[in-house]
Amino acid sequence: MSGASAPGKFILFGEHAVVFGKPAFALAIDRRLTVTVAEAERTELNGKPFGAAGNSPYVEECLRRVEPQGHLRLETRSTIPAGSGLGSSAAAAIATLAALDRQGRLREEDDLARAGFEVELAVQGRASPLDTSTVTHGSGILVSPERLSGHLWEVRRGEKVWNLHHRSIPEADFVVGFTGISAATGPLVAMVHERAAREPKVREAIEEIGELTLAGVDALQHERFEEVGELMERNHALLTLLGVGHERLDALLRAVKPYALGAKLTGAGGGGSIVALTEKPDKAAEAIRAAGGTPIPVRLSREGVRRHG
Ligand code: PMV
Repeated sequence: MSGASAPGKFILFGEHAVVFGKPAFALAIDRRLTVTVAEAERTELNGKPFGAAGNSPYVEECLRRVEPQGHLRLETRSTIPAGSGLGSSAAAAIATLAALDRQGRLREEDDLARAGFEVELAVQGRASPLDTSTVTHGSGILVSPERLSGHLWEVRRGEKVWNLHHRSIPEADFVVGFTGISAATGPLVAMVHERAAREPKVREAIEEIGELTLAGVDALQHERFEEVGELMERNHALLTLLGVGHERLDALLRAVKPYALGAKLTGAGGGGSIVALTEKPDKAAEAIRAAGGTPIPVRLSREGVRRHG
């Protein structure tokens, strides 16, 4: 038997803009998805045959790509709530690829992160390498078109180049609030793409998100938390302009406002989750619950992918 696990993540700045090659920043969290692999009579995923309804398309895509010899039984366990924008799909892709990698072809973090990105692309149609790189490496990952300090690796796709950089994690409290609405990432990304092609103000918003991401990461690294909070608020307004907001997200943001330095949607939007930077995490969590959301306590994590067996 072999296995691997990968953390979840949340995006602090730059979701959606990153698909257009702009800067974005994500942080790994201490919730993890674990995949174990064992020899079997037929290929199974959590007791169901390959291709059965309800199977993770990310795990199945990994199996399709790796083409393991013989049949395998895969089991997944997770403390990352699925569909909440906390990176369960990226963690599923990375943990599965690492667990299936018996020959060590994906031993290097960059090879594994690239392979995971290809899996996300195949399943979603469009994606950025931010999530898969963050859950592979852990800590904070800044992606940008330029090469900056702390450079880890680059990912290319056609004309686009994403440079991935390590950033240390701050001593700060974040609380995530899940709306209970799971919106698929692929269609939201496609919708933003169509709007950007038609509307100059959407293209301007994408540009501004890229700029505020770099300012936000600098503020975070230097512990200027009020500035981080303000930039989170601005980022949320711009995401709403892109069309990925939701009234449930705004209800959670209103509820958490008295206890937060700043808050925004995190991930693809259209539902999903908010993330708040707060000095009063318990009160922020209570406010999220009182407004009908599910508070998800998260701690930042240095650890990325872990292999066992
Ligand atoms: O739904 P999530 O948390 O995987 O976030 C998607 C983030 C996007 O920028 C919208 C897409 C991407 O692949 O970066």
